[in-house]
Amino acid sequence: MTIADYGASQGRNSMGPMGRAIDLVRERDADRPVQVVHTDLPSNDFASLFTLLADDPASYLRGRGEVHPLAVGRSYFDAVLPAGSVDLGWSSNALHWMSHSPIEVDDHAWATFSACAQARSAVDAVLADDWLRFLRARSRELRPGGRVVCQFMGRGEEQQGFEWMADHFWQAILALRAAGQLTEAETRRMTAPSAGRSPEQIAAPFAAGLVPELALDHVSRFVSPDPFWDEYRETGDAARLGARWAAMMRAANGPNFAAALGSGLDPARDRDALLDALTQELAWRVAAIRSAAFRGTCWCRSASAAEFQAKNSASRTPHTATTHDWKAHSIGAGASRRPMNSRPTSRTLAKATTRITAPEVPSTVVSNDSSVAATSTAQTRTARLARIEGILESFPYKR
Ligand SMILES: C[S@@+](CC[C@H](N)C(=O)[O-])C[C@H]1O[C@@H](n2cnc3c(N)ncnc32)[C@H](O)[C@@H]1O
Repeated sequence: MTIADYGASQGRNSMGPMGRAIDLVRERDADRPVQVVHTDLPSNDFASLFTLLADDPASYLRGRGEVHPLAVGRSYFDAVLPAGSVDLGWSSNALHWMSHSPIEVDDHAWATFSACAQARSAVDAVLADDWLRFLRARSRELRPGGRVVCQFMGRGEEQQGFEWMADHFWQAILALRAAGQLTEAETRRMTAPSAGRSPEQIAAPFAAGLVPELALDHVSRFVSPDPFWDEYRETGDAARLGARWAAMMRAANGPNFAAALGSGLDPARDRDALLDALTQELAWRVAAIRSAAFRGTCWCRSASAAEFQAKNSASRTPHTATTHDWKAHSIGAGASRRPMNSRPTSRTLAKATTRITAPEVPSTVVSNDSSVAATSTAQTRTARLARIEGILESFPYKR
Protein backbone atom coordinates (compact mmCIF):
# COMPACT_ATOMS: atom_id res chain seq x y z
CA MET A 1 0.00 0.00 0.00
CA THR A 2 1.55 3.29 -1.09
CA ILE A 3 0.30 6.69 0.01
CA ALA A 4 1.88 9.74 -1.63
CA ASP A 5 1.80 13.11 0.12
CA TYR A 6 2.38 15.70 -2.62
CA GLY A 7 3.82 19.00 -1.33
CA ALA A 8 4.45 17.78 2.23
CA SER A 9 6.65 20.64 3.46
CA GLN A 10 7.88 19.76 6.97
CA GLY A 11 4.98 17.37 7.43
CA ARG A 12 3.18 19.01 10.33
CA ASN A 13 -0.20 18.99 8.56
CA SER A 14 0.35 15.53 7.09
CA MET A 15 0.43 13.64 10.37
CA GLY A 16 -3.33 13.54 10.92
CA PRO A 17 -4.46 12.58 7.41
CA MET A 18 -1.70 10.00 6.95
CA GLY A 19 -2.41 8.46 10.36
CA ARG A 20 -6.10 8.24 9.59
CA ALA A 21 -5.50 6.64 6.19
CA ILE A 22 -3.20 4.03 7.73
CA ASP A 23 -5.77 3.23 10.44
CA LEU A 24 -8.49 2.69 7.86
CA VAL A 25 -6.27 0.31 5.92
CA ARG A 26 -5.44 -1.54 9.12
CA GLU A 27 -9.09 -1.88 10.08
CA ARG A 28 -9.47 -4.15 7.10
CA ASP A 29 -6.04 -5.69 7.03
CA ALA A 30 -4.15 -5.45 10.31
CA ASP A 31 -0.82 -6.66 8.91
CA ARG A 32 -0.63 -4.74 5.70
CA PRO A 33 2.62 -2.75 5.40
CA VAL A 34 2.16 0.84 4.32
CA GLN A 35 4.72 3.16 2.79
CA VAL A 36 4.10 6.88 2.94
CA VAL A 37 6.04 8.87 0.38
CA HIS A 38 6.37 12.55 1.25
CA THR A 39 7.20 14.58 -1.83
CA ASP A 40 8.22 18.21 -2.15
CA LEU A 41 10.68 20.40 -4.05
CA PRO A 42 14.39 19.52 -3.75
CA SER A 43 14.95 22.57 -1.53
CA ASN A 44 12.42 21.34 1.07
CA ASP A 45 13.46 20.81 4.67
CA PHE A 46 13.06 17.03 4.72
CA ALA A 47 15.29 16.77 7.81
CA SER A 48 12.63 18.54 9.88
CA LEU A 49 10.00 16.21 8.47
CA PHE A 50 11.88 13.10 9.55
CA THR A 51 12.68 14.64 12.94
CA LEU A 52 8.99 15.30 13.44
CA LEU A 53 8.18 11.73 12.45
CA ALA A 54 10.71 10.40 14.95
CA ASP A 55 10.05 12.69 17.90
CA ASP A 56 6.67 14.35 17.79
CA PRO A 57 3.74 12.93 19.75
CA ALA A 58 1.52 13.62 16.72
CA SER A 59 3.69 11.48 14.41
CA TYR A 60 1.71 8.85 12.52
CA LEU A 61 4.48 6.38 13.38
CA ARG A 62 3.46 6.48 17.05
CA GLY A 63 1.69 3.26 17.95
CA ARG A 64 1.64 1.97 14.40
CA GLY A 65 3.92 -0.77 13.11
CA GLU A 66 4.95 -1.65 9.56
CA VAL A 67 4.73 1.94 8.39
CA HIS A 68 7.60 3.15 6.21
CA PRO A 69 8.06 6.86 5.54
CA LEU A 70 10.08 7.86 2.49
CA ALA A 71 10.77 11.15 0.75
CA VAL A 72 11.23 12.35 -2.81
CA GLY A 73 12.58 15.80 -3.68
CA ARG A 74 11.05 16.44 -7.08
CA SER A 75 8.31 18.70 -8.45
CA TYR A 76 4.89 17.09 -8.63
CA PHE A 77 4.32 18.70 -11.98
CA ASP A 78 6.42 15.83 -13.32
CA ALA A 79 6.49 12.11 -12.54
CA VAL A 80 7.54 11.50 -8.96
CA LEU A 81 6.99 7.76 -8.48
CA PRO A 82 6.97 4.67 -10.73
CA ALA A 83 4.01 4.09 -13.01
CA GLY A 84 1.06 2.30 -11.40
CA SER A 85 2.53 2.44 -7.89
CA VAL A 86 0.29 4.83 -5.89
CA ASP A 87 -2.88 3.72 -4.11
CA LEU A 88 -3.79 7.01 -2.48
CA GLY A 89 -2.46 10.50 -3.22
CA TRP A 90 -2.93 13.46 -0.91
CA SER A 91 -2.06 17.11 -1.45
CA SER A 92 -3.06 19.93 0.87
CA ASN A 93 -2.39 23.67 0.73
CA ALA A 94 0.12 23.38 -2.09
CA LEU A 95 -1.38 23.42 -5.59
CA HIS A 96 -2.14 27.15 -5.64
CA TRP A 97 1.62 27.69 -5.99
CA MET A 98 2.41 27.93 -9.68
CA SER A 99 5.34 26.22 -11.35
CA HIS A 100 6.73 29.66 -12.22
CA SER A 101 5.74 33.29 -12.09
CA PRO A 102 3.91 34.00 -15.35
CA ILE A 103 4.36 37.75 -15.25
CA GLU A 104 5.59 40.58 -13.04
CA VAL A 105 3.15 43.42 -12.38
CA ASP A 106 3.72 46.78 -10.79
CA ASP A 107 0.28 47.32 -9.32
CA HIS A 108 0.02 44.40 -6.92
CA ALA A 109 2.02 41.67 -5.20
CA TRP A 110 -0.20 39.04 -6.91
CA ALA A 111 -0.69 39.22 -10.68
CA THR A 112 -4.10 37.61 -10.24
CA PHE A 113 -5.20 40.84 -8.50
CA SER A 114 -3.64 43.18 -11.05
CA ALA A 115 -5.84 45.70 -12.85
CA CYS A 116 -4.28 44.41 -16.07
CA ALA A 117 -6.51 41.81 -17.76
CA GLN A 118 -3.58 40.37 -19.70
CA ALA A 119 -1.70 39.74 -16.49
CA ARG A 120 -4.69 37.96 -14.96
CA SER A 121 -5.04 35.85 -18.13
CA ALA A 122 -1.38 34.93 -17.96
CA VAL A 123 -1.95 33.64 -14.42
CA ASP A 124 -4.97 31.60 -15.48
CA ALA A 125 -3.01 30.08 -18.36
CA VAL A 126 -0.26 28.88 -16.03
CA LEU A 127 -2.81 27.62 -13.47
CA ALA A 128 -4.46 25.56 -16.23
CA ASP A 129 -1.19 24.22 -17.58
CA ASP A 130 0.10 23.30 -14.11
CA TRP A 131 -3.12 21.52 -13.15
CA LEU A 132 -3.01 19.50 -16.38
CA ARG A 133 0.63 18.58 -15.79
CA PHE A 134 -0.18 17.52 -12.22
CA LEU A 135 -3.09 15.36 -13.39
CA ARG A 136 -1.14 13.73 -16.21
CA ALA A 137 1.71 12.86 -13.89
CA ARG A 138 -0.74 11.35 -11.36
CA SER A 139 -2.64 9.41 -14.00
CA ARG A 140 0.60 7.60 -14.77
CA GLU A 141 1.43 6.97 -11.11
CA LEU A 142 -1.94 5.79 -9.83
CA ARG A 143 -2.77 2.12 -9.64
CA PRO A 144 -6.12 1.06 -11.14
CA GLY A 145 -8.70 2.09 -8.54
CA GLY A 146 -6.32 4.55 -6.90
CA ARG A 147 -7.37 8.03 -5.84
CA VAL A 148 -5.92 11.47 -5.30
CA VAL A 149 -7.45 14.00 -2.91
CA CYS A 150 -6.36 17.62 -3.30
CA GLN A 151 -7.20 20.68 -1.23
CA PHE A 152 -5.88 24.09 -2.21
CA MET A 153 -6.77 27.75 -2.39
CA GLY A 154 -9.87 28.43 -4.42
CA ARG A 155 -11.74 31.22 -6.06
CA GLY A 156 -15.25 32.49 -5.44
CA GLU A 157 -17.63 33.79 -8.07
CA GLU A 158 -16.75 37.43 -7.59
CA GLN A 159 -13.70 37.36 -5.36
CA GLN A 160 -10.96 34.95 -4.60
CA GLY A 161 -11.46 35.64 -0.90
CA PHE A 162 -7.78 36.33 -0.28
CA GLU A 163 -7.91 39.93 -1.49
CA TRP A 164 -8.04 41.48 1.96
CA MET A 165 -4.70 40.08 3.07
CA ALA A 166 -3.08 40.26 -0.37
CA ASP A 167 -3.93 43.96 -0.46
CA HIS A 168 -2.49 44.56 2.99
CA PHE A 169 0.68 42.76 1.95
CA TRP A 170 0.95 44.91 -1.15
CA GLN A 171 0.35 48.09 0.83
CA ALA A 172 3.09 47.02 3.23
CA ILE A 173 5.49 46.58 0.30
CA LEU A 174 4.55 50.02 -1.00
CA ALA A 175 5.17 51.49 2.43
CA LEU A 176 8.69 50.06 2.38
CA ARG A 177 9.22 51.49 -1.06
CA ALA A 178 7.90 54.89 0.03
CA ALA A 179 10.32 54.79 2.94
CA GLY A 180 13.19 54.19 0.48
CA GLN A 181 13.79 50.63 1.65
CA LEU A 182 12.91 49.01 -1.68
CA THR A 183 13.67 50.05 -5.24
CA GLU A 184 11.11 50.23 -8.05
CA ALA A 185 12.65 47.16 -9.70
CA GLU A 186 12.54 45.13 -6.48
CA THR A 187 8.95 46.15 -5.86
CA ARG A 188 7.99 44.97 -9.32
CA ARG A 189 9.73 41.65 -8.88
CA MET A 190 7.66 41.01 -5.74
CA THR A 191 4.92 39.27 -7.66
CA ALA A 192 3.98 36.08 -5.84
CA PRO A 193 3.41 32.99 -8.03
CA SER A 194 0.19 31.84 -6.40
CA ALA A 195 -3.53 32.08 -7.11
CA GLY A 196 -6.75 30.20 -6.41
CA ARG A 197 -8.66 28.12 -8.94
CA SER A 198 -12.42 28.02 -9.44
CA PRO A 199 -14.31 24.70 -9.57
CA GLU A 200 -14.73 25.32 -13.32
CA GLN A 201 -10.98 25.66 -13.76
CA ILE A 202 -10.52 22.43 -11.83
CA ALA A 203 -13.06 20.56 -13.92
CA ALA A 204 -11.95 21.96 -17.30
CA PRO A 205 -9.33 19.33 -18.26
CA PHE A 206 -11.78 16.52 -17.47
CA ALA A 207 -14.56 18.15 -19.48
CA ALA A 208 -12.19 18.64 -22.40
CA GLY A 209 -11.08 14.99 -22.33
CA LEU A 210 -7.46 15.94 -21.69
CA VAL A 211 -7.02 13.30 -18.98
CA PRO A 212 -9.10 10.38 -20.25
CA GLU A 213 -7.56 7.91 -17.79
CA LEU A 214 -8.90 9.89 -14.82
CA ALA A 215 -12.38 10.73 -13.59
CA LEU A 216 -13.22 13.71 -11.43
CA ASP A 217 -15.32 12.30 -8.61
CA HIS A 218 -16.01 15.40 -6.62
CA VAL A 219 -15.22 19.10 -6.39
CA SER A 220 -16.41 21.39 -3.64
CA ARG A 221 -15.63 24.92 -2.62
CA PHE A 222 -16.08 26.18 0.87
CA VAL A 223 -15.12 29.10 3.03
CA SER A 224 -12.02 28.37 5.01
CA PRO A 225 -12.10 29.09 8.72
CA ASP A 226 -9.51 31.41 10.17
CA PRO A 227 -8.51 30.65 13.76
CA PHE A 228 -6.71 34.01 14.04
CA TRP A 229 -9.88 35.82 13.11
CA ASP A 230 -12.02 33.70 15.43
CA GLU A 231 -9.68 34.51 18.29
CA TYR A 232 -9.81 38.20 17.46
CA ARG A 233 -13.59 38.18 17.49
CA GLU A 234 -13.46 36.70 20.96
CA THR A 235 -10.79 38.95 22.39
CA GLY A 236 -10.73 42.11 20.28
CA ASP A 237 -6.94 41.84 20.42
CA ALA A 238 -6.15 43.42 17.08
CA ALA A 239 -2.40 43.52 17.76
CA ARG A 240 -2.36 39.75 18.14
CA LEU A 241 -4.46 39.31 15.01
CA GLY A 242 -1.96 41.43 13.06
CA ALA A 243 1.05 39.65 14.50
CA ARG A 244 -0.29 36.18 13.79
CA TRP A 245 -1.36 36.93 10.25
CA ALA A 246 1.89 38.75 9.50
CA ALA A 247 3.91 35.77 10.77
CA MET A 248 1.86 33.44 8.59
CA MET A 249 2.36 35.62 5.53
CA ARG A 250 6.05 35.83 6.26
CA ALA A 251 6.34 32.05 6.43
CA ALA A 252 4.43 31.58 3.18
CA ASN A 253 5.68 34.51 1.12
CA GLY A 254 8.93 35.56 2.79
CA PRO A 255 11.15 33.39 0.56
CA ASN A 256 9.57 34.91 -2.52
CA PHE A 257 10.05 38.40 -1.13
CA ALA A 258 13.70 37.69 -0.30
CA ALA A 259 14.34 36.23 -3.76
CA ALA A 260 12.92 39.36 -5.37
CA LEU A 261 15.70 41.36 -3.73
CA GLY A 262 18.06 39.64 -6.19
CA SER A 263 21.41 37.97 -5.74
CA GLY A 264 23.56 41.10 -5.91
CA LEU A 265 22.02 42.82 -2.88
CA ASP A 266 24.10 45.68 -1.47
CA PRO A 267 25.79 44.22 1.65
CA ALA A 268 24.64 47.29 3.58
CA ARG A 269 21.06 46.12 3.13
CA ASP A 270 20.13 43.15 5.24
CA ARG A 271 17.60 40.73 3.72
CA ASP A 272 16.31 39.57 7.11
CA ALA A 273 15.98 43.14 8.37
CA LEU A 274 13.92 44.05 5.30
CA LEU A 275 11.72 41.03 5.83
CA ASP A 276 11.34 42.01 9.50
CA ALA A 277 10.31 45.51 8.44
CA LEU A 278 7.74 44.14 6.00
CA THR A 279 6.33 41.78 8.64
CA GLN A 280 6.09 44.59 11.19
CA GLU A 281 4.41 46.89 8.72
CA LEU A 282 1.89 44.22 7.80
CA ALA A 283 1.18 43.39 11.44
CA TRP A 284 0.73 47.03 12.27
CA ARG A 285 -1.62 47.65 9.34
CA VAL A 286 -3.93 44.80 10.21
CA ALA A 287 -3.82 45.68 13.90
CA ALA A 288 -4.51 49.37 13.41
CA ILE A 289 -7.32 48.86 10.98
CA ARG A 290 -9.01 46.09 12.91
CA SER A 291 -8.57 47.93 16.15
CA ALA A 292 -10.53 50.84 14.74
CA ALA A 293 -13.13 48.52 13.25
CA PHE A 294 -13.60 46.65 16.50
CA ARG A 295 -14.39 49.89 18.24
CA GLY A 296 -17.33 50.67 16.07
CA THR A 297 -15.96 52.28 12.95
CA CYS A 298 -16.65 49.18 10.91
CA TRP A 299 -18.89 51.06 8.55
CA CYS A 300 -18.44 48.80 5.59
CA ARG A 301 -19.21 45.42 7.07
CA SER A 302 -22.02 44.70 4.71
CA ALA A 303 -20.32 46.01 1.59
CA SER A 304 -21.58 44.21 -1.49
CA ALA A 305 -19.16 42.36 -3.70
CA ALA A 306 -19.45 45.14 -6.27
CA GLU A 307 -18.58 47.77 -3.68
CA PHE A 308 -15.69 45.66 -2.59
CA GLN A 309 -14.42 45.36 -6.13
CA ALA A 310 -14.59 49.11 -6.58
CA LYS A 311 -12.71 49.73 -3.37
CA ASN A 312 -10.27 47.05 -4.26
CA SER A 313 -9.35 48.61 -7.57
CA ALA A 314 -9.26 52.11 -6.12
CA SER A 315 -6.85 50.96 -3.48
CA ARG A 316 -4.38 49.86 -6.10
CA THR A 317 -3.20 53.44 -6.25
CA PRO A 318 -0.28 53.56 -3.85
CA HIS A 319 -1.11 55.78 -0.92
CA THR A 320 1.22 58.63 -0.11
CA ALA A 321 3.34 58.49 2.98
CA THR A 322 2.23 61.24 5.32
CA THR A 323 1.57 61.65 8.97
CA HIS A 324 -2.00 62.39 9.96
CA ASP A 325 -4.59 62.08 12.66
CA TRP A 326 -4.79 58.31 12.44
CA LYS A 327 -4.26 58.00 16.16
CA ALA A 328 -7.65 59.64 16.61
CA HIS A 329 -8.94 56.15 16.07
CA SER A 330 -8.39 54.16 19.23
CA ILE A 331 -5.53 51.98 18.21
CA GLY A 332 -5.10 48.93 20.41
CA ALA A 333 -2.09 48.04 22.48
CA GLY A 334 0.85 47.05 20.36
CA ALA A 335 -0.65 48.62 17.29
CA SER A 336 0.30 52.17 18.08
CA ARG A 337 3.96 51.81 17.21
CA ARG A 338 4.08 52.63 13.56
CA PRO A 339 7.17 51.16 11.97
CA MET A 340 7.31 53.79 9.28
CA ASN A 341 5.77 56.87 7.97
CA SER A 342 2.80 55.39 6.20
CA ARG A 343 -0.84 55.80 6.90
CA PRO A 344 -3.81 53.57 6.22
CA THR A 345 -6.31 55.45 4.11
CA SER A 346 -10.05 55.23 4.45
CA ARG A 347 -9.89 52.94 1.44
CA THR A 348 -7.78 50.42 3.30
CA LEU A 349 -10.15 50.71 6.24
CA ALA A 350 -13.03 49.74 4.02
CA LYS A 351 -11.08 46.90 2.52
CA ALA A 352 -10.14 45.48 5.85
CA THR A 353 -13.74 44.90 6.75
CA THR A 354 -14.03 42.50 3.86
CA ARG A 355 -12.19 40.08 6.07
CA ILE A 356 -15.56 38.52 6.74
CA THR A 357 -15.21 36.87 3.35
CA ALA A 358 -12.53 34.32 4.09
CA PRO A 359 -10.46 32.43 1.50
CA GLU A 360 -12.38 29.74 -0.25
CA VAL A 361 -10.77 26.38 -0.55
CA PRO A 362 -11.77 23.89 -3.17
CA SER A 363 -11.38 20.26 -2.51
CA THR A 364 -11.03 17.82 -5.30
CA VAL A 365 -11.05 14.10 -5.61
CA VAL A 366 -9.59 12.56 -8.71
CA SER A 367 -9.60 8.85 -9.34
CA ASN A 368 -8.75 6.49 -12.10
CA ASP A 369 -12.09 4.82 -11.82
CA SER A 370 -15.36 6.65 -11.54
CA SER A 371 -17.12 4.52 -9.00
CA VAL A 372 -17.20 6.55 -5.84
CA ALA A 373 -18.28 10.07 -5.07
CA ALA A 374 -16.17 11.10 -2.13
CA THR A 375 -16.59 13.90 0.30
CA SER A 376 -14.35 16.89 0.61
CA THR A 377 -11.59 17.89 2.94
CA ALA A 378 -11.47 20.77 5.39
CA GLN A 379 -9.25 23.48 6.68
CA THR A 380 -8.26 23.19 10.25
CA ARG A 381 -6.49 19.99 11.12
CA THR A 382 -9.44 18.63 13.06
CA ALA A 383 -12.07 19.61 10.56
CA ARG A 384 -9.89 18.38 7.73
CA LEU A 385 -9.52 15.02 9.38
CA ALA A 386 -13.23 14.65 9.96
CA ARG A 387 -13.98 15.40 6.36
CA ILE A 388 -11.40 13.16 4.76
CA GLU A 389 -12.56 10.19 6.74
CA GLY A 390 -15.41 9.85 4.29
CA ILE A 391 -12.99 9.80 1.39
CA LEU A 392 -10.62 7.39 2.99
CA GLU A 393 -13.38 5.07 4.18
CA SER A 394 -14.58 4.62 0.64
CA PHE A 395 -11.10 3.88 -0.57
CA PRO A 396 -11.04 0.48 -2.30
CA TYR A 397 -7.65 -0.68 -1.24
CA LYS A 398 -6.57 -4.14 -2.35
CA ARG A 399 -5.78 -7.02 -0.08
C1 LIG B 1 2.00 25.67 2.32
S1 LIG B 1 2.98 24.24 2.12
C2 LIG B 1 1.77 23.00 2.48
C3 LIG B 1 2.32 21.94 3.34
C4 LIG B 1 1.32 20.89 3.80
N1 LIG B 1 0.92 20.01 2.75
C5 LIG B 1 0.10 21.48 4.46
O1 LIG B 1 -1.01 21.10 4.18
O2 LIG B 1 0.28 22.38 5.30
C6 LIG B 1 3.14 24.08 0.36
C7 LIG B 1 4.22 23.12 -0.02
O3 LIG B 1 4.10 22.81 -1.40
C8 LIG B 1 5.38 22.69 -1.92
N2 LIG B 1 5.36 22.81 -3.38
C9 LIG B 1 5.09 23.92 -4.09
N3 LIG B 1 5.23 23.66 -5.39
C10 LIG B 1 5.59 22.35 -5.49
C11 LIG B 1 5.88 21.49 -6.58
N4 LIG B 1 5.85 21.95 -7.83
N5 LIG B 1 6.22 20.21 -6.32
C12 LIG B 1 6.25 19.75 -5.05
N6 LIG B 1 5.99 20.52 -3.98
C13 LIG B 1 5.66 21.82 -4.20
C14 LIG B 1 6.15 23.78 -1.24
O4 LIG B 1 7.55 23.57 -1.34
C15 LIG B 1 5.62 23.70 0.18
O5 LIG B 1 6.39 22.87 0.98
